[in-house]
Amino acid sequence: MTAGEGSAAGERWWEGAALYQVYVRSWQDSDGDGYGDLAGVRRRLDHLSWLGIDGLWLSPTMPSPDEDWGYDVADYYGVHPELGTLEELDRLVAEAAQRGIRVLLDLVPNHTSSLHPWFVEARSSREAPHRDWYVWADPGPDGGPPNNWRSAAGGSAWTLDEGSGQYYLHNFLPGQPDLNWWNEEVHAELGRVLRYWFDRGVAGFRIDVAHSLYKDRQLRDDSPAPKGPAAPFGLAADRSMNQPEAHEVYRAWRKLAGEYRPARLLLGETWVFDAQRLASFYGDDDELHLAFNFPFVFAPFRAAELSSIVASTLAALPPGACPVWVGSNHDVSRLPTRWGAGDPARARTALVLLCTLPGTVVLYYGDELGLTDVPVPPDEQRDPMSWRAPDDRFNRDRARTPMPWEPGPLYGFAPRGTRPWLPAGDRDGLTVAEQREDPASTLSLTRALLDLRRQRLTGHTAGDVAGYEQLPSGRDQWVYRSGPLVVAANLAADEVQIDVPAGEVIISSAVGVQGGGVRVGRRPADPALVLGPFEAVVIQPHEAAG
Ligand code: NOJ
Repeated sequence: MTAGEGSAAGERWWEGAALYQVYVRSWQDSDGDGYGDLAGVRRRLDHLSWLGIDGLWLSPTMPSPDEDWGYDVADYYGVHPELGTLEELDRLVAEAAQRGIRVLLDLVPNHTSSLHPWFVEARSSREAPHRDWYVWADPGPDGGPPNNWRSAAGGSAWTLDEGSGQYYLHNFLPGQPDLNWWNEEVHAELGRVLRYWFDRGVAGFRIDVAHSLYKDRQLRDDSPAPKGPAAPFGLAADRSMNQPEAHEVYRAWRKLAGEYRPARLLLGETWVFDAQRLASFYGDDDELHLAFNFPFVFAPFRAAELSSIVASTLAALPPGACPVWVGSNHDVSRLPTRWGAGDPARARTALVLLCTLPGTVVLYYGDELGLTDVPVPPDEQRDPMSWRAPDDRFNRDRARTPMPWEPGPLYGFAPRGTRPWLPAGDRDGLTVAEQREDPASTLSLTRALLDLRRQRLTGHTAGDVAGYEQLPSGRDQWVYRSGPLVVAANLAADEVQIDVPAGEVIISSAVGVQGGGVRVGRRPADPALVLGPFEAVVIQPHEAAG
């Protein structure tokens, strides 16, 4: 534990916690403009306390021209007027705190909007005071871009600024110029940004593109690499991102976060596909507190692949580090679609796994309802990345559609007569109100799982990866101990009989929650257990009972 962070209960509240990502524009529209907003989030906080959520991550809230829906920040110290005001955000933080829920914001330190006053000034002349806050380079020998770096959406990562005759770097869209982290003033300014929000009571940040920040100082070409999620264009991003100096930034931020009580949480969007590299972001317990695990997100829904990612992650993490498990977010297809082809059984089993693995779980809004993607016709797409990208990678609107709260127009997302920013889709029977009434629903299952975590797993598995042990099983099954419990999952389409430690099934993904309590689907688990297709159970072993 880092000096200054303290060890009192609650200081490292995120370890073993259940976090929940709210895509603000899609959760609850309070004023009928078609976009969800902060007042809407506040109005729906009861859903989160009822569900048993410890922390809330709000997708970008800062002013932005929305070329990438807030991931192009125009003012790090404000609130987007379409989402609310600073006062509204303060109120949300305070009302969430009354329910024991902490609020995280999304911080975008790798790039700003091209309309941020810093960049507007920087591009005005080569001598502009903020010029060096961004990454500029003369044209290459052929007059084209200075190197082979590619923008995430395709094409060169460089755009020529005709006025000054130099190219500027944007690892994402041209409207998202990369900051120059070699410049000390950039450090100082982002440090001020952190303090500003921490002082307001914000509990921490999800850090966008946390593996980036620094770029190779000599701007050398990226190396060739096999195509994959980390190398969509067959380039390794080993020079355009992923420089070791980023770790110094996180060490400094960790100290800063540790000056607060409780310490403020640093949760990184670490888009790396190697367990050692992922582990490096935790440092020596002196960098990020939590780092997203993208190999798990992109793994096929098969026992061998998922379990081997868990094993390699746990083996690589430094002692005391807490892993993070997530199945959906605003950038990828929702887990019931991606992992389950819409089959609710698979989605429910995925929820059992996510909620019982050792570490912190992050649910994306709608995971608890088993929501699948909504197909969004091309003429209704709102994600500028999808208009530019040459492939399906940025088909992200399908996972950003309105939250269904209750039966009726727009499922309660917005006042009657509103035109929502994205189609609400067909969510009949899937709304929060309907699922709350049904003890067999995915929502009831998720709530029971989160309750079980709180009662039985937090403390055993919070950051204590020793609480996890994989037990022998068939190729398509995954059986593990998690703290005092055993989880057995059948990731195959056929019924299977498996050996598990003697005990009692207390939750089954295939059986409803009885009487609203935790104990469900009681049946003998001794000596063998029969699991249906894509069924997962949580077992209370006899030896640990009592
Ligand atoms: C990752 C964010 O999650 C994504 O939505 C965004 O487009 C890029 N970073 C660029 O900020």
